[in-house]
Amino acid sequence: MPNAPPHLGTRLAQAGCHPDPQTGALTPPLHLASTFERPASGDYGDGYVYARWGNPTRDLLEATLADLEYPDGGAEAAAFASGMAAVMTVLQALRPGDHILLPDDVYHGVRHLLRSTFADWGLTYSEVDQTDLDAVRAALRPETKLVWAETPSNPLLKITNLEALAEIAHDAGALLLVDGTWTTPLLQRPLELGADLVLHSATKYLGGHSDTLLGVVVARSGLDLFERMRALQKGAGAVADPFACWLVLRGLRSLGARMPLHSRNAQRLAEALRGHPAVEAVHYPGLPDHPGHAIAQEQMDGFGGMLAFQVRGGADEALGVAARCRLFRRATSLGGTESLIEHRASIESQPTPTPQNLLRVSVGLEHADDLISDLTEALHPIAAAR
Ligand SMILES: Cc1ncc(COP(=O)(O)O)c(C=O)c1O
Repeated sequence: MPNAPPHLGTRLAQAGCHPDPQTGALTPPLHLASTFERPASGDYGDGYVYARWGNPTRDLLEATLADLEYPDGGAEAAAFASGMAAVMTVLQALRPGDHILLPDDVYHGVRHLLRSTFADWGLTYSEVDQTDLDAVRAALRPETKLVWAETPSNPLLKITNLEALAEIAHDAGALLLVDGTWTTPLLQRPLELGADLVLHSATKYLGGHSDTLLGVVVARSGLDLFERMRALQKGAGAVADPFACWLVLRGLRSLGARMPLHSRNAQRLAEALRGHPAVEAVHYPGLPDHPGHAIAQEQMDGFGGMLAFQVRGGADEALGVAARCRLFRRATSLGGTESLIEHRASIESQPTPTPQNLLRVSVGLEHADDLISDLTEALHPIAAAR
Protein backbone atom coordinates (compact mmCIF):
# COMPACT_ATOMS: atom_id res chain seq x y z
CA MET A 1 0.00 0.00 0.00
CA PRO A 2 1.43 3.43 -0.91
CA ASN A 3 2.31 5.75 1.99
CA ALA A 4 -0.40 8.32 2.77
CA PRO A 5 0.75 11.86 1.84
CA PRO A 6 2.13 13.73 4.87
CA HIS A 7 -0.26 15.97 6.79
CA LEU A 8 0.01 19.73 6.37
CA GLY A 9 1.52 19.98 9.87
CA THR A 10 4.30 17.61 8.84
CA ARG A 11 4.99 19.51 5.65
CA LEU A 12 5.11 22.76 7.63
CA ALA A 13 7.49 21.38 10.26
CA GLN A 14 9.97 20.60 7.49
CA ALA A 15 9.11 23.50 5.19
CA GLY A 16 11.99 24.23 2.84
CA CYS A 17 14.27 21.70 4.56
CA HIS A 18 16.00 19.75 1.82
CA PRO A 19 19.52 18.74 2.94
CA ASP A 20 22.02 20.93 1.08
CA PRO A 21 23.87 18.62 -1.34
CA GLN A 22 27.22 20.35 -0.68
CA THR A 23 27.18 20.60 3.12
CA GLY A 24 24.34 18.42 4.38
CA ALA A 25 22.84 21.45 6.15
CA LEU A 26 19.25 20.67 7.04
CA THR A 27 17.93 24.19 7.15
CA PRO A 28 17.87 26.29 3.99
CA PRO A 29 21.00 28.30 3.12
CA LEU A 30 20.61 32.07 2.76
CA HIS A 31 21.79 33.19 -0.68
CA LEU A 32 22.59 36.90 -0.74
CA ALA A 33 24.36 37.07 -4.12
CA SER A 34 22.92 39.68 -6.44
CA THR A 35 24.60 38.21 -9.53
CA PHE A 36 25.72 34.79 -10.73
CA GLU A 37 28.60 33.73 -12.99
CA ARG A 38 27.84 33.27 -16.63
CA PRO A 39 29.03 29.91 -17.96
CA ALA A 40 32.02 30.04 -20.37
CA SER A 41 29.69 28.86 -23.10
CA GLY A 42 27.86 32.17 -22.68
CA ASP A 43 24.57 30.39 -22.15
CA TYR A 44 23.00 30.62 -18.69
CA GLY A 45 20.60 27.82 -19.55
CA ASP A 46 18.22 27.32 -16.59
CA GLY A 47 20.79 28.80 -14.17
CA TYR A 48 20.55 31.96 -12.10
CA VAL A 49 21.52 35.24 -13.76
CA TYR A 50 20.62 38.19 -11.55
CA ALA A 51 18.82 38.35 -8.19
CA ARG A 52 15.84 40.43 -9.31
CA TRP A 53 15.02 37.75 -11.87
CA GLY A 54 15.59 34.87 -9.50
CA ASN A 55 17.32 33.98 -6.26
CA PRO A 56 17.59 30.47 -4.77
CA THR A 57 16.22 31.46 -1.34
CA ARG A 58 13.26 33.28 -2.90
CA ASP A 59 12.63 30.38 -5.28
CA LEU A 60 12.59 27.97 -2.33
CA LEU A 61 10.08 30.10 -0.43
CA GLU A 62 7.86 30.48 -3.49
CA ALA A 63 7.90 26.73 -4.21
CA THR A 64 7.21 25.94 -0.54
CA LEU A 65 4.24 28.31 -0.31
CA ALA A 66 2.78 27.11 -3.64
CA ASP A 67 2.98 23.56 -2.34
CA LEU A 68 1.39 24.45 1.01
CA GLU A 69 -1.56 26.19 -0.66
CA TYR A 70 -2.08 23.60 -3.36
CA PRO A 71 0.10 20.50 -3.45
CA ASP A 72 1.21 18.44 -6.46
CA GLY A 73 2.45 21.28 -8.63
CA GLY A 74 -0.98 22.84 -9.26
CA ALA A 75 0.07 26.32 -8.15
CA GLU A 76 2.81 28.90 -8.54
CA ALA A 77 3.89 31.67 -6.19
CA ALA A 78 5.64 35.03 -6.44
CA ALA A 79 7.16 36.76 -3.39
CA PHE A 80 7.27 40.54 -3.02
CA ALA A 81 8.82 43.11 -0.72
CA SER A 82 5.61 43.48 1.32
CA GLY A 83 1.97 42.47 1.27
CA MET A 84 1.15 45.83 -0.32
CA ALA A 85 3.83 45.32 -3.02
CA ALA A 86 2.00 42.07 -3.82
CA VAL A 87 -1.33 43.97 -3.91
CA MET A 88 0.20 46.64 -6.15
CA THR A 89 1.51 44.03 -8.57
CA VAL A 90 -1.92 42.37 -8.85
CA LEU A 91 -3.41 45.78 -9.67
CA GLN A 92 -0.65 46.61 -12.17
CA ALA A 93 -1.28 43.31 -13.93
CA LEU A 94 -4.89 44.34 -14.61
CA ARG A 95 -5.74 46.58 -17.58
CA PRO A 96 -7.18 50.11 -17.70
CA GLY A 97 -10.97 49.85 -17.69
CA ASP A 98 -11.02 46.68 -15.56
CA HIS A 99 -13.33 46.68 -12.54
CA ILE A 100 -12.55 45.06 -9.17
CA LEU A 101 -15.26 44.06 -6.72
CA LEU A 102 -14.04 44.51 -3.14
CA PRO A 103 -15.65 43.45 0.12
CA ASP A 104 -17.07 46.44 2.02
CA ASP A 105 -14.83 45.47 4.94
CA VAL A 106 -11.59 45.17 2.95
CA TYR A 107 -8.13 45.79 4.47
CA HIS A 108 -8.03 49.59 4.28
CA GLY A 109 -4.65 49.67 2.48
CA VAL A 110 -6.18 48.02 -0.58
CA ARG A 111 -9.06 50.50 -0.72
CA HIS A 112 -6.63 53.38 -0.23
CA LEU A 113 -4.28 52.23 -3.02
CA LEU A 114 -7.15 51.89 -5.45
CA ARG A 115 -8.61 55.24 -4.44
CA SER A 116 -5.37 57.20 -4.33
CA THR A 117 -3.37 55.73 -7.20
CA PHE A 118 -5.06 53.20 -9.41
CA ALA A 119 -8.20 55.22 -10.09
CA ASP A 120 -5.95 57.52 -12.14
CA TRP A 121 -4.70 54.48 -14.05
CA GLY A 122 -8.23 53.66 -15.17
CA LEU A 123 -9.01 50.83 -12.73
CA THR A 124 -12.46 51.06 -11.20
CA TYR A 125 -13.73 49.39 -8.06
CA SER A 126 -16.82 49.09 -5.95
CA GLU A 127 -17.53 47.53 -2.57
CA VAL A 128 -20.21 45.09 -1.54
CA ASP A 129 -21.15 43.09 1.54
CA GLN A 130 -19.88 39.69 0.39
CA THR A 131 -21.89 37.86 3.04
CA ASP A 132 -24.89 38.69 0.80
CA LEU A 133 -24.34 36.65 -2.35
CA ASP A 134 -27.32 38.20 -4.18
CA ALA A 135 -25.76 41.60 -3.60
CA VAL A 136 -22.48 40.24 -5.02
CA ARG A 137 -24.27 39.00 -8.18
CA ALA A 138 -25.95 42.39 -8.57
CA ALA A 139 -22.67 44.28 -8.12
CA LEU A 140 -20.79 42.43 -10.87
CA ARG A 141 -20.30 44.37 -14.10
CA PRO A 142 -19.36 43.20 -17.61
CA GLU A 143 -15.89 44.69 -17.02
CA THR A 144 -15.38 43.03 -13.59
CA LYS A 145 -12.14 41.09 -13.93
CA LEU A 146 -11.40 40.39 -10.30
CA VAL A 147 -13.46 39.65 -7.21
CA TRP A 148 -11.35 40.38 -4.14
CA ALA A 149 -12.30 38.57 -0.93
CA GLU A 150 -11.25 38.58 2.69
CA THR A 151 -12.77 36.04 5.04
CA PRO A 152 -12.67 36.62 7.97
CA SER A 153 -12.75 40.28 6.91
CA ASN A 154 -10.70 43.05 8.43
CA PRO A 155 -11.67 44.29 10.99
CA LEU A 156 -15.28 43.06 11.36
CA LEU A 157 -14.57 39.34 10.84
CA LYS A 158 -17.40 38.82 8.38
CA ILE A 159 -17.40 35.36 6.82
CA THR A 160 -17.95 34.72 3.10
CA ASN A 161 -18.71 31.37 1.51
CA LEU A 162 -15.71 30.98 -0.80
CA GLU A 163 -17.02 28.06 -2.85
CA ALA A 164 -20.17 30.00 -3.70
CA LEU A 165 -18.23 33.21 -4.36
CA ALA A 166 -15.83 31.41 -6.74
CA GLU A 167 -18.76 30.06 -8.72
CA ILE A 168 -20.40 33.48 -8.94
CA ALA A 169 -17.13 35.15 -10.02
CA HIS A 170 -16.40 32.51 -12.65
CA ASP A 171 -19.95 32.62 -14.06
CA ALA A 172 -19.37 36.35 -14.59
CA GLY A 173 -16.00 35.75 -16.29
CA ALA A 174 -14.01 37.14 -13.34
CA LEU A 175 -11.23 35.65 -11.24
CA LEU A 176 -11.44 35.27 -7.47
CA LEU A 177 -8.55 36.46 -5.30
CA VAL A 178 -8.63 35.77 -1.56
CA ASP A 179 -6.46 37.67 0.90
CA GLY A 180 -5.45 34.79 3.16
CA THR A 181 -3.27 36.80 5.53
CA TRP A 182 -5.42 36.12 8.61
CA THR A 183 -5.90 32.42 7.99
CA THR A 184 -2.68 31.06 6.44
CA PRO A 185 -2.81 27.76 4.53
CA LEU A 186 -3.12 25.96 7.84
CA LEU A 187 -6.65 27.27 8.51
CA GLN A 188 -8.03 27.89 5.02
CA ARG A 189 -6.91 26.91 1.52
CA PRO A 190 -8.92 29.05 -0.93
CA LEU A 191 -7.50 27.42 -4.08
CA GLU A 192 -9.03 24.12 -2.95
CA LEU A 193 -12.35 25.95 -2.60
CA GLY A 194 -12.25 27.27 -6.18
CA ALA A 195 -10.36 30.58 -5.86
CA ASP A 196 -7.78 31.47 -8.48
CA LEU A 197 -5.30 33.48 -6.44
CA VAL A 198 -4.37 33.78 -2.76
CA LEU A 199 -2.49 36.77 -1.39
CA HIS A 200 -0.66 36.83 1.94
CA SER A 201 1.04 39.50 3.91
CA ALA A 202 3.70 37.08 5.21
CA THR A 203 4.67 39.94 7.51
CA LYS A 204 1.97 38.52 9.79
CA TYR A 205 1.43 34.84 10.71
CA LEU A 206 3.68 33.23 8.08
CA GLY A 207 6.73 35.10 9.39
CA GLY A 208 5.12 35.01 12.80
CA HIS A 209 7.55 37.09 14.87
CA SER A 210 6.89 40.75 13.91
CA ASP A 211 10.38 41.05 12.46
CA THR A 212 10.06 40.96 8.71
CA LEU A 213 8.05 42.40 5.81
CA LEU A 214 7.08 40.21 2.84
CA GLY A 215 4.13 39.53 0.56
CA VAL A 216 3.25 36.61 -1.65
CA VAL A 217 0.70 35.71 -4.30
CA VAL A 218 -0.05 32.05 -4.96
CA ALA A 219 -1.98 31.31 -8.14
CA ARG A 220 -3.56 28.32 -9.76
CA SER A 221 -1.13 27.24 -12.55
CA GLY A 222 -1.65 28.65 -16.01
CA LEU A 223 -3.26 32.02 -15.21
CA ASP A 224 -2.42 34.84 -17.64
CA LEU A 225 -2.87 37.37 -14.84
CA PHE A 226 -0.20 35.60 -12.82
CA GLU A 227 2.16 35.49 -15.82
CA ARG A 228 1.85 39.28 -16.05
CA MET A 229 2.54 39.53 -12.32
CA ARG A 230 5.62 37.34 -12.71
CA ALA A 231 6.87 39.62 -15.50
CA LEU A 232 6.30 42.66 -13.27
CA GLN A 233 8.06 40.97 -10.36
CA LYS A 234 11.16 40.26 -12.41
CA GLY A 235 11.09 43.37 -14.56
CA ALA A 236 9.92 46.03 -12.10
CA GLY A 237 11.62 44.62 -9.04
CA ALA A 238 9.28 44.87 -6.02
CA VAL A 239 10.88 41.56 -5.02
CA ALA A 240 11.26 40.06 -1.57
CA ASP A 241 14.81 40.25 -0.29
CA PRO A 242 16.55 36.93 0.44
CA PHE A 243 16.83 37.45 4.22
CA ALA A 244 13.09 38.15 4.49
CA CYS A 245 12.45 34.97 2.46
CA TRP A 246 14.70 33.03 4.81
CA LEU A 247 12.91 34.41 7.89
CA VAL A 248 9.52 33.46 6.47
CA LEU A 249 10.79 29.95 5.69
CA ARG A 250 11.87 29.74 9.32
CA GLY A 251 8.51 31.06 10.51
CA LEU A 252 6.64 28.46 8.46
CA ARG A 253 8.32 25.64 10.35
CA SER A 254 6.51 26.58 13.58
CA LEU A 255 3.22 27.71 12.02
CA GLY A 256 1.58 24.34 12.70
CA ALA A 257 2.17 24.83 16.43
CA ARG A 258 1.42 28.56 16.55
CA MET A 259 -1.91 28.80 14.73
CA PRO A 260 -3.87 26.39 16.94
CA LEU A 261 -2.68 28.24 20.05
CA HIS A 262 -3.58 31.63 18.53
CA SER A 263 -7.03 30.19 17.76
CA ARG A 264 -7.52 28.64 21.22
CA ASN A 265 -6.52 31.85 22.97
CA ALA A 266 -8.78 33.94 20.73
CA GLN A 267 -11.72 31.63 21.41
CA ARG A 268 -11.19 31.93 25.19
CA LEU A 269 -10.89 35.70 24.96
CA ALA A 270 -13.97 36.04 22.74
CA GLU A 271 -16.01 33.96 25.20
CA ALA A 272 -14.81 36.07 28.14
CA LEU A 273 -15.56 39.35 26.36
CA ARG A 274 -19.00 38.29 25.17
CA GLY A 275 -20.60 38.43 28.57
CA HIS A 276 -18.73 41.51 29.78
CA PRO A 277 -20.98 44.46 30.75
CA ALA A 278 -18.63 47.00 29.11
CA VAL A 279 -18.74 45.22 25.74
CA GLU A 280 -21.41 45.95 23.17
CA ALA A 281 -20.46 43.32 20.58
CA VAL A 282 -17.76 40.70 19.95
CA HIS A 283 -16.82 39.71 16.42
CA TYR A 284 -15.25 36.26 16.30
CA PRO A 285 -16.36 33.44 13.97
CA GLY A 286 -15.69 30.82 16.65
CA LEU A 287 -18.68 32.08 18.66
CA PRO A 288 -21.73 29.94 17.86
CA ASP A 289 -23.95 33.02 17.45
CA HIS A 290 -21.61 34.71 14.93
CA PRO A 291 -23.62 34.99 11.67
CA GLY A 292 -20.83 33.24 9.71
CA HIS A 293 -20.11 30.51 12.27
CA ALA A 294 -21.51 27.58 10.25
CA ILE A 295 -19.70 28.58 7.04
CA ALA A 296 -16.46 29.19 8.96
CA GLN A 297 -16.75 25.77 10.56
CA GLU A 298 -17.14 24.25 7.11
CA GLN A 299 -14.38 26.06 5.22
CA MET A 300 -11.81 26.74 7.96
CA ASP A 301 -9.68 24.40 10.07
CA GLY A 302 -9.82 26.68 13.12
CA PHE A 303 -11.21 30.18 13.63
CA GLY A 304 -7.92 32.08 13.87
CA GLY A 305 -6.23 34.47 16.22
CA MET A 306 -7.94 37.74 15.24
CA LEU A 307 -10.99 39.20 16.92
CA ALA A 308 -12.65 42.58 17.30
CA PHE A 309 -14.99 43.96 19.91
CA GLN A 310 -16.97 47.13 20.40
CA VAL A 311 -16.91 48.76 23.80
CA ARG A 312 -19.91 50.59 25.22
CA GLY A 313 -19.27 54.21 24.30
CA GLY A 314 -17.29 55.80 21.47
CA ALA A 315 -13.72 56.36 20.34
CA ASP A 316 -12.64 57.84 23.72
CA GLU A 317 -13.84 54.82 25.69
CA ALA A 318 -12.20 52.41 23.22
CA LEU A 319 -8.91 54.33 23.29
CA GLY A 320 -9.13 54.36 27.09
CA VAL A 321 -9.38 50.57 27.22
CA ALA A 322 -6.32 50.20 24.98
CA ALA A 323 -4.44 52.72 27.15
CA ARG A 324 -5.16 50.76 30.36
CA CYS A 325 -3.87 47.42 28.99
CA ARG A 326 -0.58 46.28 30.47
CA LEU A 327 0.02 43.01 28.66
CA PHE A 328 -1.51 43.79 25.27
CA ARG A 329 0.83 46.01 23.28
CA ARG A 330 -0.74 49.02 21.56
CA ALA A 331 0.44 48.58 17.98
CA THR A 332 -0.81 47.98 14.48
CA SER A 333 -0.15 44.73 12.58
CA LEU A 334 -0.90 41.20 13.69
CA GLY A 335 0.26 37.60 13.68
CA GLY A 336 3.23 37.85 16.05
CA THR A 337 3.73 35.89 19.26
CA GLU A 338 2.78 38.97 21.33
CA SER A 339 -0.82 40.16 21.68
CA LEU A 340 -1.67 43.52 20.10
CA ILE A 341 -4.65 45.81 20.61
CA GLU A 342 -5.60 48.58 18.24
CA HIS A 343 -8.21 51.30 17.79
CA ARG A 344 -8.73 50.62 14.10
CA ALA A 345 -10.81 53.59 12.99
CA SER A 346 -8.03 56.06 13.86
CA ILE A 347 -5.26 54.15 12.04
CA GLU A 348 -7.18 53.43 8.84
CA SER A 349 -7.15 55.75 5.84
CA GLN A 350 -10.13 58.12 6.07
CA PRO A 351 -13.04 57.96 5.52
CA THR A 352 -13.47 54.50 7.02
CA PRO A 353 -16.60 52.47 7.70
CA THR A 354 -14.99 50.95 10.84
CA PRO A 355 -17.02 51.73 14.02
CA GLN A 356 -15.39 54.28 16.33
CA ASN A 357 -15.84 52.08 19.40
CA LEU A 358 -14.10 49.06 17.85
CA LEU A 359 -10.86 47.57 19.13
CA ARG A 360 -9.10 44.95 17.04
CA VAL A 361 -7.03 42.33 18.80
CA SER A 362 -4.28 40.09 17.46
CA VAL A 363 -4.27 37.35 20.07
CA GLY A 364 -0.76 36.11 20.75
CA LEU A 365 0.72 33.05 22.39
CA GLU A 366 0.65 34.23 26.01
CA HIS A 367 -1.37 32.28 28.62
CA ALA A 368 -5.06 32.91 27.93
CA ASP A 369 -5.83 33.60 31.61
CA ASP A 370 -3.36 36.49 31.63
CA LEU A 371 -4.84 37.97 28.47
CA ILE A 372 -8.37 37.72 29.83
CA SER A 373 -7.51 39.38 33.13
CA ASP A 374 -5.57 42.18 31.39
CA LEU A 375 -8.53 43.06 29.17
CA THR A 376 -11.22 42.65 31.82
CA GLU A 377 -9.28 44.96 34.14
CA ALA A 378 -8.89 47.50 31.34
CA LEU A 379 -12.66 47.33 30.72
CA HIS A 380 -13.55 47.59 34.40
CA PRO A 381 -13.90 51.41 34.68
CA ILE A 382 -16.48 51.42 31.88
CA ALA A 383 -18.48 48.64 33.52
CA ALA A 384 -18.21 50.36 36.94
CA ALA A 385 -19.49 53.68 35.56
CA ARG A 386 -22.67 52.08 34.22
C1 LIG B 1 -5.21 41.51 5.47
C2 LIG B 1 -3.99 42.27 5.05
N1 LIG B 1 -3.60 42.24 3.76
C3 LIG B 1 -2.50 42.90 3.34
C4 LIG B 1 -1.74 43.65 4.20
C5 LIG B 1 -0.53 44.41 3.71
O1 LIG B 1 0.65 43.78 4.09
P1 LIG B 1 2.05 44.50 4.39
O2 LIG B 1 1.87 45.31 5.62
O3 LIG B 1 3.00 43.35 4.53
O4 LIG B 1 2.37 45.36 3.21
C6 LIG B 1 -2.10 43.72 5.55
C7 LIG B 1 -1.31 44.54 6.50
O5 LIG B 1 -1.70 44.79 7.62
C8 LIG B 1 -3.25 42.99 5.98
O6 LIG B 1 -3.65 43.02 7.27
